[in-house]
Amino acid sequence: MANVAVIGAQWGDEGKGKVVDWLASRADVVVRFQGGHNAGHTLVVGDQTYKLSLLPSGLVRGKLGVIGNGVVIDPEALLAEIDRVTAQGLTVTPDTLRIADNATLILPLHSAIDRAREGARGDKKIGTTGRGIGPAYEDKVARRAIRVADLAEPDTLSDKLDELLRHHNTLLNGLGAPTFEKQGLLDHLLALAPRVLPYAEPVWERLDDLRRSGKRILFEGAQAVMLDIDHGTYPFVTSSNTVAGTAASGTGVGPSAVGFVLGIAKAYSTRVGSGPFPTELHDATGKLLGERGHEFGTVTGRPRRCGWFDAALVRQAVKVGGIQGLALTKLDVLDNLPELRIGIGYEIGGEIVRRLPASPRAQAAAVPVYETVEGWTGSCRGARSWADLPAQAIKYVKRIEELVEAPVTLLSTSPERDDTILVRDPFEG
Ligand code: GDP
Ligand code: IMO
Ligand code: MG
Repeated sequence: MANVAVIGAQWGDEGKGKVVDWLASRADVVVRFQGGHNAGHTLVVGDQTYKLSLLPSGLVRGKLGVIGNGVVIDPEALLAEIDRVTAQGLTVTPDTLRIADNATLILPLHSAIDRAREGARGDKKIGTTGRGIGPAYEDKVARRAIRVADLAEPDTLSDKLDELLRHHNTLLNGLGAPTFEKQGLLDHLLALAPRVLPYAEPVWERLDDLRRSGKRILFEGAQAVMLDIDHGTYPFVTSSNTVAGTAASGTGVGPSAVGFVLGIAKAYSTRVGSGPFPTELHDATGKLLGERGHEFGTVTGRPRRCGWFDAALVRQAVKVGGIQGLALTKLDVLDNLPELRIGIGYEIGGEIVRRLPASPRAQAAAVPVYETVEGWTGSCRGARSWADLPAQAIKYVKRIEELVEAPVTLLSTSPERDDTILVRDPFEG
């Protein structure tokens, strides 16, 4: 099996960036297929830390990066990120980065609407990143979005802006937020166009050529299965499908090209923003996990909510996400805890179930059922082989494998690129 898709198996921030960077040494091209600059992928290589939101993580290894049609692109954020990583010494040119010409653009009005709507929701807010992701996907589905290729046609832009503003200014007015005027937006887009267009092409054709010449594609997911618009904890989700199937539709390759699906999960759980989180800890242990794991959102800096590993939730993600192997990260954060808990199901209305129900009320009422396991003394931090791990840590990993019904094929033991244990090469299937 030549290709690999990496997806998050919890609520995001599992360490996808680190794993994609590590696997990129075995790939020829790294492709983003959904989400936008709501993602924050952190890569630590020696004394350099890279924080990527839109750019595929393979760029750090000098691999070709592709942004697929399923991604929503804020052109201003894209160019700022290119400038930022260029200042860090990376090379981003049309030779190393290609962008789908049919990808949807995020405009300044999208983040304005995102923020105004969140404000209006009050304590019922979703806790979005405020980056306009939801409103941009809504425009795409409503068939009024501006796409990358439109940047080359000022007349098309002008016509589309008329329709967009009719819709969005009505909404902004209703929300009591400032409206936008057309000329300002048109000038904004026309000013960015000459820097964006050199990257644009029909990427499906390049990916097809690469596949036919036997090159290996690594698909880099953003967010995670529990934030998936269909399969996640709706409505506390992002606005795209995050499951591996989207790697096909979000890039223009067929489903058979997706290859091995590697799910990434932390050895505990975190979540940023609102929404149900059955195994959340509000005590000293939760605080300790947050401090040890440096659990602050890469994009917004918000503290992440922390809790025990939820095997029922990850098992569900394995099933709906088509996950064939799991990369378990941040095992080191659990070092020297006397005992650990693993969520194995939920008690709902007196019954024990192994899946999170669809109803938000039932999700909020789900009481986790735990299995308690012994912790380990000693450290997993920096381990690069099974032999470096305390025996009890190996037992913890094995128990997780059983409960989530997927093998652990990769382990990560620190933020550093090479502190990784490969159990089975996902490119070998
Ligand atoms: P992503 O969104 O899934 O790419 O994850 P983020 O980069 O947002 O968050 C994961 C954080 O954990 C980053 O700060 C990583 O550097 C860090 N990290 C990744 N793997 C490990 C690990 O095995 N141990 C520890 N301690 N930190 C890790
Ligand atoms: P990575 O790729 C964690 C969350 C937001 C919010 C919800 C909707 O780094 O794992 P949105 O702005 O997408 O409309 O917000 O989704 N969220 C993430 N949480 N990691 C991410 O990405 C996220 N991207 C969005 O916090 O709860
Ligand atoms: Mg992240």
